[in-house]
Amino acid sequence: MRPATLLLLLFLLALTSSLLLPSAAISVPRGSPISFLPVPSSALKTSAKFSINGGLEALLKSFCKHTDYFDLCMSSIRKAAPQLRSFNTASIAAALMKAVDAKAHEAVAFAKKLANDPHFTGRTRELLHDCIDTYSDALDNLKSAGDAIRARDNGTRDSMLSAMISNFGTCEDGFQELSLKSPTAEWTETLQHMVDNVLAIVNKGRPNDY
Ligand SMILES: *[C@@H]1O[C@H](CO)[C@@H](O)[C@H](O)[C@H]1NC(C)=O
Repeated sequence: MRPATLLLLLFLLALTSSLLLPSAAISVPRGSPISFLPVPSSALKTSAKFSINGGLEALLKSFCKHTDYFDLCMSSIRKAAPQLRSFNTASIAAALMKAVDAKAHEAVAFAKKLANDPHFTGRTRELLHDCIDTYSDALDNLKSAGDAIRARDNGTRDSMLSAMISNFGTCEDGFQELSLKSPTAEWTETLQHMVDNVLAIVNKGRPNDY
């Protein structure tokens, strides 16, 4: 039995018994992933809570282990979709894409701030404006990748995602050509790794030729 199926069964079983035995209702914070468990709250502090959260954790790991940037994959999903309980390629890819979207918007805001900071030279600020453009191109391509996923067009999906990696890289090219230190280097690298993770998830089970 697949772990996802097992978890669903466990969930249904727990839900059914808690409906049948309202007196066994326990008080845990609303929205807590363990709120459906018909066990005494004392037990929740130990094994029950651990195994349910551990189960979700294990499911998440089973996806992220297909990526090159495992920790980034885990943290992206936790941050972008903390309530995610349905684990499949589509939902994991959607969560990772949501995370890239948020991060790229933050990066644009960061670059805009620096581009207006007189502490930087005119040349660096000019290059930062270029980065804002190329990061924005990446965001457009992310939208197109989302459209392609909805249209079940895997080829377009993968070329849009690959284009994003180039878009982010183009930001750094200008700095490298002029041997200037790029204030966005870390952002670019993280964003590229995040997109690489999306590609790895949507192509998992296939040879690494995307
Ligand atoms: C397209 O990608 C999805 C998941 O990312 C996969 O399940 C499906 O088999 C792929 N379709 C084709 C035709 O390769």
